[in-house]
Amino acid sequence: MADGEFLWGAASAAYQVEGGWRDGGRGLSKWDVYTNDERITEAVVGVQHTGNDAINAYDRAQYLKDIALMRDLGLNAYRFSVSWPRVLPDGTGEVNQTGLDYYSRFVDDLIAAGITPLATLYHWDFPAGLFARGGWHNRDSIAWFRDYAAVMFRALGDRVRHFITMNEPFIDIFYMDLIAENARAGRSESRRFTSEQYGRQAPALHNLFLAHAETVAEYRRQRQGGMIGIALPLSPTIPVDPASPDDVSAAHLVDGVINRWSLDAVVKGSYPDDVVAALKAHNPDFSVSDVDLATMKANRADFVGVNFYSPAYVRADPNSPLGADRDINPDTVKAFNGPVRPAALHGLLLRIRDEYGNPPVMITENGAGFGDIDEVRDGDAIHDPLRTDYIRRHVEATLEAKAEGADIRGYMVWSLFDNFEWIQGYTRRFGMVYVDFHTQERTPKDSFYAYRDLIARHRGAMVRGREAG
Ligand code: FCB
Repeated sequence: MADGEFLWGAASAAYQVEGGWRDGGRGLSKWDVYTNDERITEAVVGVQHTGNDAINAYDRAQYLKDIALMRDLGLNAYRFSVSWPRVLPDGTGEVNQTGLDYYSRFVDDLIAAGITPLATLYHWDFPAGLFARGGWHNRDSIAWFRDYAAVMFRALGDRVRHFITMNEPFIDIFYMDLIAENARAGRSESRRFTSEQYGRQAPALHNLFLAHAETVAEYRRQRQGGMIGIALPLSPTIPVDPASPDDVSAAHLVDGVINRWSLDAVVKGSYPDDVVAALKAHNPDFSVSDVDLATMKANRADFVGVNFYSPAYVRADPNSPLGADRDINPDTVKAFNGPVRPAALHGLLLRIRDEYGNPPVMITENGAGFGDIDEVRDGDAIHDPLRTDYIRRHVEATLEAKAEGADIRGYMVWSLFDNFEWIQGYTRRFGMVYVDFHTQERTPKDSFYAYRDLIARHRGAMVRGREAG
């Protein structure tokens, strides 16, 4: 890949694709526990599904075939994640060389195929033993994570030039962990949270942002010269009734909690005052020291990873912890967690350009899983017109923002393959390639060919543009 070339990729995460959960000395993560403890699995995942085998990507014979498909698609980038307990079975201490070698070889195999690797260090699979010691609630987690990251930088940093510290911290802590906690407690509505829970999670998210900052510092100490960022779940908020002051202020606060909190933390090294005040209302002990803020300011990310699926339509709701209901979809179709609105992605990218000093941005996830209505088999073909249309329109929105000066470096689809979806198991498909979960057979869907055409057209135009300029 020519240096500086726009990255056209797809994204994945270890737990969702690897399988091989007991192979090669791998330790367990909290997700292995959630999915293999039958008392809670259904309340977390919705079905009795595990990632124990997932789509078999731990098997080299399998992933070499997968890399051949990436080449066929025309990808020049692939985002994957490292399973922390595969490398450090206990989370800290002894390195499992077999695990480390697996990732090193995978990186070599990608590069040999002309594909730039982007490595996420934490995509939710927190080591089970350390999770039992409090996970991100324990301030020691900052050192646990930084030390693990240091191992990965030393092992891969000569070849991986783009590291992503963490994936969607907010969702990990304010959504997935709370669902699991409710499941354990046997609460019937595992996806409804209390004010007390929100307050309790705030310091954990703060520890995670500190761990991110200290990891950025560690990366710079190692002087490897690549880029380090973080992947954030960003959903622009839209008041359901723009004429209602209550809806407007609810949408502003939700925007603060789900977007500004994380963006400010990693780009500015600060937290928005209204968000801290709102969290303090749930947890009077929540406070952030000047020393911590200085650490965050001194170690800001090189790029922002944007995970975008849908905007959030917000309505004031006095019965919810934040005084808002954000789970509203005005349309009948649902891309995943909301309606299809490419204009919201375009607006978000311009907002990052204007309000955050135009940092380098990578779209680290964008994609859709509409369910059965969009997975129509027809002989050997699989038609997914809604996903095809979704990807095309979001690519256009991205390139429009880029043409308007937003510093966008790449675009990754979630996902290349159908895989294990956290709270839906194998019942929700996001892939451009269909996977038969029994035989592991792969079949490209229409969206695969459509994305291939988009990449070919735009890559060609970008290269011609550079030559002309
Ligand atoms: C994102 C996750 C990713 C995948 C998609 C559908 O929130 O980061 O792992 O599950 O949603």
